[in-house]
Amino acid sequence: MKRIAILVSGVSRGSNMRAIIEACRDGRIPDSTVVAVVGARDDAPAMHNARTLGVDTAVVNPREFPDPDMYGDALLWVLQKAQPDLICLAGYMRLLPARVVRAYPMRIMNIHPALLPLFGGKGMYGLKVHQAVLESGMKVTGCTVHFVDEQYDTGPIILQRCVPIRSDDTPETLAARVLPVEHETYLEAIRLFVQGRLRVEGKHVRVDE
Ligand code: GRF
Repeated sequence: MKRIAILVSGVSRGSNMRAIIEACRDGRIPDSTVVAVVGARDDAPAMHNARTLGVDTAVVNPREFPDPDMYGDALLWVLQKAQPDLICLAGYMRLLPARVVRAYPMRIMNIHPALLPLFGGKGMYGLKVHQAVLESGMKVTGCTVHFVDEQYDTGPIILQRCVPIRSDDTPETLAARVLPVEHETYLEAIRLFVQGRLRVEGKHVRVDE
């Protein structure tokens, strides 16, 4: 059994988290189980939903630590207890402390609601991403699952899926159309990981048949 830990933020609603938990349970992600959901606040909707689904939760609040290193140590302590093979960020909006990234090289994934390397970076989350996409005049958007490195949204890209933009789209309508595609794409990337089919070569992630 592969062990998956999910990191959410203090305000996460947790739809990607839920999709991952359910896919592990019904076998769409094979031989895997979500062992822990870690978030900044116990009262985040995602944490509540995780408990309702019977998954262990742990709170590590970055605001309670004087610097990212100490926050990173606290996260590592919780993660080491969970013994994850894979860590999935799902609505986690901070820069993951470098010591956490180094402890799990190419074993941490993130989902971003646009086609990276466009529309990523610090502060690019939620509706701001979709707003920027609409302002750009692009005709397609989508989502990206990537491995996490020490910067925002720059790690090796695992999978991307496109979503057409309509002339009457608002950030809200676009977000609503991208979200189900995020879920599918995240599940597929995790499936490839647990099947041992992802090979990272520098910036490139090769998918073995
Ligand atoms: C998603 O749009 C994801 O791409 C981004 O944060 C959002 C989280 O949504 N990283 P949810 O909490 O999974 O519903």
